[in-house]
Formats: sequence, structure tokens, C-alpha cells
Amino acid sequence: MTAFEDWLAAQARKREDAGLTRRLVPRHPAEPTIDLAGNDYLGLSRHPDVVAGAVSAASEYGAGAGASRLVTGTLPVHEELERALVEFTGFTTGLVFSTGYHANLSVVSALADADTLIVSDAHIHASLIDACRLSRGQVTIVPHNDVAAVRGALAGRSQARTLVLVETIYSVLGDAAPVADLAEACAAYDAVLVADEAHALGVAGVGGRGLLHAAGLADRPDVVATLTLSKSLGAQGGAVRSSPAVREHLVNRARPFIYDTGLAPAAAGGALAALAVVEAEPQRVRRVNAIAATLADACRVEEPAGAVLAVPMPGPLEAVAAVEKAAGSDVRIGCFRPPSTPDGISRLRLTAHAQLDDSDVARAVGVLQDLL
Ligand SMILES: Cc1ncc(COP(=O)(O)O)c(C=O)c1O
Repeated sequence: MTAFEDWLAAQARKREDAGLTRRLVPRHPAEPTIDLAGNDYLGLSRHPDVVAGAVSAASEYGAGAGASRLVTGTLPVHEELERALVEFTGFTTGLVFSTGYHANLSVVSALADADTLIVSDAHIHASLIDACRLSRGQVTIVPHNDVAAVRGALAGRSQARTLVLVETIYSVLGDAAPVADLAEACAAYDAVLVADEAHALGVAGVGGRGLLHAAGLADRPDVVATLTLSKSLGAQGGAVRSSPAVREHLVNRARPFIYDTGLAPAAAGGALAALAVVEAEPQRVRRVNAIAATLADACRVEEPAGAVLAVPMPGPLEAVAAVEKAAGSDVRIGCFRPPSTPDGISRLRLTAHAQLDDSDVARAVGVLQDLL
């Protein structure tokens, strides 16, 4: 074995011993499993209108965008989607990206530099953490949802600019950020609130318009919001919603936007159709929240702010064992273990899905009660 192979084998052993090995499990289209792990919260990825939207955009524009948005990769379907997203959520302008990950990398790396303080909630998504690393800004991590700590960090700053990074509904914990208080703190200290609505769009706020819309924060120049098209919209891709000045800055300065091929036409067409379904069928939003409440009751945890439920487990081995036991009953659940959990606590992660019928929900509840 070469030194490189030795190193890989030692890393694999270390992961295995700690119960932290990750494995890929293919999901087949016709499998009977009840999905309480994925993020297709409204069941739209296979909705006939959404699939038709994807097919129609692919037929019209091709399988790929063909180039960066700044070369020949900006398509009318991108602009149509940008308009629809901001009209739905109350923002001024939108910019779509090939992934939500790229949207987050772009915002933070283009809006922060060495003279920027980045105040980051302890539980923000990995894409925002990586974005901080790319930005060269100075990062201060504050305890989760602690507005007083955010204010303290803002008051003590010496840098010219400040960004405050949060998720409006947290991807692992499933709780909501106190967005109104955070926006007030940002306004008091001339800081910009960067809020990721990946898990709020389609699930939280009026008809699924998200928590920034609900708090009346959507059209503020000091609020920049990201989202992903890959969760409740059942497609793929991401977007930034902001003032026109921020959009213009990103188009000119965001490297993950400039040096990346534009969003695939099928993903844009699918997301556009999905947004129309969310708007036309608000009962899907109500249904996903009702199912989330039922699952929370079965797991004896607090009702979540959206579709994500977090159930603390004694350790990573117990979490994995629970996931496997549920899979044996054809219920797929997820888990988060260190290093994905900043507080070192392993958790089951369950997600509610609007398309589950009452018998699916009853079966899932039975399995969860047995498990926990
Ligand atoms: C909070 C959050 N932000 C960003 C992303 C990245 O989005 P995407 O999967 O579209 O790259 C995810 C999910 O994977 C997420 O959970």
C-alpha cells in the first residue's frame, strides 16, 4: 500500500469505529417506502405539471444552459422564474443559480471582504460556512438564535461592514429564527441580514411565502435572502432575492455565479411550474404542517416551524440503529451526526410530506412510536 492508500484506510477505520461512516442508498422510483427523510416537502418533484414544465423547458432550450449566465447561458425561462419567485415572496429582484449551495457561496463571498465582520449563527448550513471561508471576512459565531449575542457582536465591531448569517428555518433543528428581532438588530448597527429560506419556502409563512415575507422584511435593502429550488419546489437549483443593487453586484462579482454554467432549463421549468402549483393549491402547505405536527407528537418533540423535525439521540450508533430499524419497516428517516451537528448531538431528522395519505401517516406514527 502507498502512503496515500494507508491514509485513506486509516480514515475509513476511524469513521467506522466512531459510527460515522456514510453510505449511499439508491432510491428506486417504485419502492413502497414512506419517505420521512427527503426534502420534497410538498410532493411536487413528480407532480404532472412540474414534470411537464421540466420537459417543456428541456425541449425548448436543451438539456443544459450551455454556458455561464454571463456568456450565452441566460435563458428567458431563468428570467421568468426570477420574476415568479420574487412576485410570490414579495422581494424586488431575483437571481437564479445552478444550486442553493452556489447561491449561498455567492452572496457571502461577494458581499464580504477582509474588512467585513460576519456574525454567524452556530447552526447555519455547511454552504454558508464554506461561503465564510471563501469570503476572507472575520467570522464570529454566536449561540443559536441568540439575538442578544448578535447585538453584542455588532456593537463591538471594528470592520467597515457586517453580515449576519441565519436560516429562517434551520435545516437540522427545524426551528425558526427570530427574523424580526434580528432585522431590527441589523438595522440598529447598519448590518445586512443574510437569511437562507431553503426550508421555509413552500412550507412556512402565508401560503408558503416564507418567514421574511411574513415578517414584512422582503423589500428591505438590508435583507438578502437565499433559497433552494430543490426542496419544496421539487426541482434543482437556487436563488437570491434582494434589492436590484445587490443583484447587480452579484452578477458582476460572485465567482460561483460567473464561473458556473447557468441553471439547467429543465430545473428552471420544473421550479416555475411547481411555484404555480404552490400558489394554486395552498392546501398542500397546510397539509405538510399538519403532518409535521402529528409526527412531532409521535416523537414527543415540539411542533416544528416547518416540515423538519429533530429528535435527539444518545449517540451516533443509536441514531444509525434507529434509521436502520425504521428502514426495516419501509419508513425512511434521516440522521445527523457529528461533524454535521455543531453541538456534537446526534439527531434523527424527520421530514413531513404533504403527499402522504392518512394511512401512510398512521403507519409512520406506529413505526416511530415503536422506535422511540
Ligand atoms: C439550509 C440549506 N441551504 C442550502 C442548501 C443547499 O441547497 P442545494 O441543495 O440547492 O444546493 C441546503 C440543502 O441542501 C440547505 O439545507
